[in-house]
Amino acid sequence: MKKTILVTGGAGFIGSHLVRRFVKKYPVYRIINLDKLTYAGNLENLRDVEQNRNYTFIKGDINDTAFIDELFASHMFDAVIHLAAESHVDRSISGPMEFVNTNITGTVNLLNSARIRWKEETGSKLFYHISTDEVYGSLGEEGLFTEETAYDPRSPYSASKAGSDHMVRAWYHTYGLPVIISNCSNNYGPNQFPEKLIPLAINNIKNNRAVPVYGRGENIRDWLYVEDHAAAIDLLFHRGQSGRTYNVGGNNEWRNIDLIRTLCVIMDKKLDRPPGTSEKLITFVKDRAGHDLRYAIDNSRISRELGWKPSVSFQEGLEKTVDWYLDNEKWLKAVISGEYKSYYDKQYLER
Ligand code: NAD
Ligand code: DAU
Repeated sequence: MKKTILVTGGAGFIGSHLVRRFVKKYPVYRIINLDKLTYAGNLENLRDVEQNRNYTFIKGDINDTAFIDELFASHMFDAVIHLAAESHVDRSISGPMEFVNTNITGTVNLLNSARIRWKEETGSKLFYHISTDEVYGSLGEEGLFTEETAYDPRSPYSASKAGSDHMVRAWYHTYGLPVIISNCSNNYGPNQFPEKLIPLAINNIKNNRAVPVYGRGENIRDWLYVEDHAAAIDLLFHRGQSGRTYNVGGNNEWRNIDLIRTLCVIMDKKLDRPPGTSEKLITFVKDRAGHDLRYAIDNSRISRELGWKPSVSFQEGLEKTVDWYLDNEKWLKAVISGEYKSYYDKQYLER
């Protein structure tokens, strides 16, 4: 069936993998990618599909209420898949307002225009909001986040994402807007901005720079290859039930220090360096403020009801990721010029 789908944040990491998947897999869909192109948005991520007839890019800001409303008035969107956000926890600690504006107000702008412009047709529409497992807070050594876990966000980033989730549910209950929310664990893979742990470590190892590990490296994350997340979004977009939340995770928990050591072994092999070379770069640095100890997702709802499961093993995913960064030096060089350097110096050298 023909559909016009607004994807927000499609020039970012996860968004670009999702846009590519939809543009290639569903030629009858018209994919409109709305992105402000912040430091994290990069049209290079979509060079291979930008000429496709079913793809359009629009530069714009979800915080601009009038612009968003005009966009909904001039396009008959059948659905929204909303990924645009400020996404990095460390940046939310040093500059929380941007997170409140984009993640909460920006989301409300989209919800409100959808509600007003879709009017009584809402029955056939869908607002799909992409969220994070961080809204559930921090786990101790035991337990998993389920869809029933109470929200307990602890950083400005996770609090702003929790706020946006609440707004999405409010539009469902109050106005009857059809919505789906999925809360996913840590993604990794090609095209991730090198402020996040895995690409930052790959870039530093490659350049023989210190690999900063916060605290003692004992914090635990549940890692999922980005294309597995895009596959889950595809499935939920088509078969998820309106009004429901779905947790998505990799069943793949790693202590940061163990993950970095594994990455060091892969990097030594790929760079043809003697075993143990990269590990010497590991440097324990001051911990992140309010650093959540552990995230882990119970994804039994999406796997039981819809048959989704991760398909890429961690070893395979890490190798593919390292290969991509080593093969895409131009991409990496471009994104670490300019703004990245001042962020990096502030975050790692001046504290
Ligand atoms: P990202 O930072 O790589 O990309 C975000 C994109 O949003 C960028 O292209 C940026 O230009 C765009 N954007 C930011 N502010 C905007 C604005 N005001 N208007 C329009 N566009 C704007 O993020 P990501 O890692 O790809 O995450 C995408 C979504 O998935 C986010 O909502 C994030 O909270 C969620 N999420 C991420 C992860 C993860 O591990 N990366 C896990 C779970 C959920
Ligand atoms: O859980 C999902 C979330 O995962 C997403 O919602 C966020 O958008 C995404 O950024 C990610 O958040 P994290 O804070 O878990 O990711 P990050 O890559 O920043 O950090 C992963 C872990 O590594 C975390 O425990 C902090 C630690 N870390 C991170 C950096 C950047 C370090 O030890 N050193 C570093 O330099």
